[in-house]
Amino acid sequence: MAKVLVVYATRGGETKAIAALIAEGIRFAGAEAKCINIMDIKKEADLEGYDGYVFGSATYHGEMMQPMKTMLFLAEKVKLEGKAGGSFGAFGWSGEAPGRIYDTMKNIFRMNMANDPLMLKSASLGGGIKMAQDYGRKIGEKL
Ligand SMILES: Cc1cc2nc3c(=O)[nH]c(=O)nc-3n(C[C@H](O)[C@H](O)[C@H](O)COP(=O)(O)O)c2cc1C
Repeated sequence: MAKVLVVYATRGGETKAIAALIAEGIRFAGAEAKCINIMDIKKEADLEGYDGYVFGSATYHGEMMQPMKTMLFLAEKVKLEGKAGGSFGAFGWSGEAPGRIYDTMKNIFRMNMANDPLMLKSASLGGGIKMAQDYGRKIGEKL
């Protein structure tokens, strides 16, 4: 069974909730999904062995959160080329993080991006549940 790693960086929990919904969608598509807090990614080995990767961060002060920046430097050392990818995050008004993560996954890691970045103001309002699940499903179907 194909396996996808969903990693989230959050302060208030909204991006964690989106991550859980994306993981659900991946499972709906018949793949395995592991959803983990970025603080639990400590070494290259923690990122190895998956067929797809979905990285998410909330936006604070116009940027992705610092642990996501650190993790992307770590991920540069892991062979991710050609693997399925996606990015996401909760935001308030500008939402820079998902787009920046997406650009790194596409241009530096040369991943096969399944979809545009997913930006949600809330995991549960305004159709967020379905959008996040569909996002995961699309990645699961790409494997
Ligand atoms: C101090 C502070 C700065 C923020 N800066 C931004 C920002 O620059 N752009 C934006 O879109 N949202 C910004 N937000 C809103 C957060 O992205 C939003 O609350 C989001 O839901 C937080 O996600 P989290 O619960 O996963 O941490 C900011 C929030 C706070 C408290």
